[in-house]
Amino acid sequence: MNELTQLEAVLAAKIDAADTESALEDVRVSALGKKGVVSERMKTLGKMSPEERKEMGPALNGLKARIADAIETKKIALEDAALEARLASEKVDVTLPVRPEAKGKIHPVSQVTEEIVAIFSAMGFDVAEGPDIEDDFHNFTALNFPPDHPAREMHDTFFFEPKEDGSRMLLRTHTSPVQIRTMMSQKPPIRIIIPGRTFRCDSDQTHTPMFHQVEGLVIDREAHMGHLKGTLEAFVKTFFEIDDVKTRFRPHFFPFTEPSAEMDVQYERVGNEVRFGQGDKWMEILGCGMVHPNVLKNCGLDPDEYQGFAWGMGVDRLAMLKYGIPDLRDFFAADARWLEHYGFDAVDQPNLATGLSR
Ligand code: DAH
Repeated sequence: MNELTQLEAVLAAKIDAADTESALEDVRVSALGKKGVVSERMKTLGKMSPEERKEMGPALNGLKARIADAIETKKIALEDAALEARLASEKVDVTLPVRPEAKGKIHPVSQVTEEIVAIFSAMGFDVAEGPDIEDDFHNFTALNFPPDHPAREMHDTFFFEPKEDGSRMLLRTHTSPVQIRTMMSQKPPIRIIIPGRTFRCDSDQTHTPMFHQVEGLVIDREAHMGHLKGTLEAFVKTFFEIDDVKTRFRPHFFPFTEPSAEMDVQYERVGNEVRFGQGDKWMEILGCGMVHPNVLKNCGLDPDEYQGFAWGMGVDRLAMLKYGIPDLRDFFAADARWLEHYGFDAVDQPNLATGLSR
């Protein structure tokens, strides 16, 4: 008995001293494991006389139970302490200010694209996208450019090396091929805008070989020039954030629309600044028109059943105009100081409720 009391005191001291879960596990194995001191004692019960067993049995079982209990209690205490330590070390003070050196800015092209998407989303348009590398069919043929038509050359196309069959892939010269992809894969009514990169072999103060467009397309049983004008006029007012701005539509030519027009916006130049909604000058900002019946047919739509309108506008140019940025080439010079000056705060997402360009 005395010996068991002693053993219990030794084990209790070891349990007490174990300061990690693995140290505690070692104590458990050394006491209660298959070859542990307590388990070894239990095995001796079989060889005892019935009288001895009557006494030692309950004593050993009691010891075993108390040791197991003590280990369990200690285990919970160690787990709690570990959790406390972890919580303390991972504590984050969400009230701390933003680190002052975090200087990332949103590029004006991204900002203006987001603004345009916000405006047309509110009008019920979806966003569609397509590949930068196109084939001749989607970029030209399906859009009603006849073979060898000069308009193909007007686009200053970047062509890839001819394939074995003689056909050439190209960098899309406009976002209009996504009109074709959408009409061929979706049933009308269609109401989409198509933001994306476009490419033409051209470079000066207002042209870069890569630039950005947003295309718009509406196809329905009834969609007419009045809808086109209303949509684009509402866009211009919201985009330039002025209630009163005059627009005018001038006849133009695009192979994929009939009739075609260019939309001009009223403006005035004051010093270096372009002011919209005042003055008597007109600035062209986009091309548009009613989708040509041939384009509908090329996409498997019956022009007697469906009609629609479309437009295409340059995002970079709209950004230059709205935010007074003089040279387009700087947009793609990757100059951190330029971005710091012209860029936008990442947390100010453009939306119609709180303002487009706060
Ligand atoms: N794709 C034309 C261009 O890049 C822009 C354009 C004009 C798109 C009229 C249209 C449209 O959808 O209807 O110059």
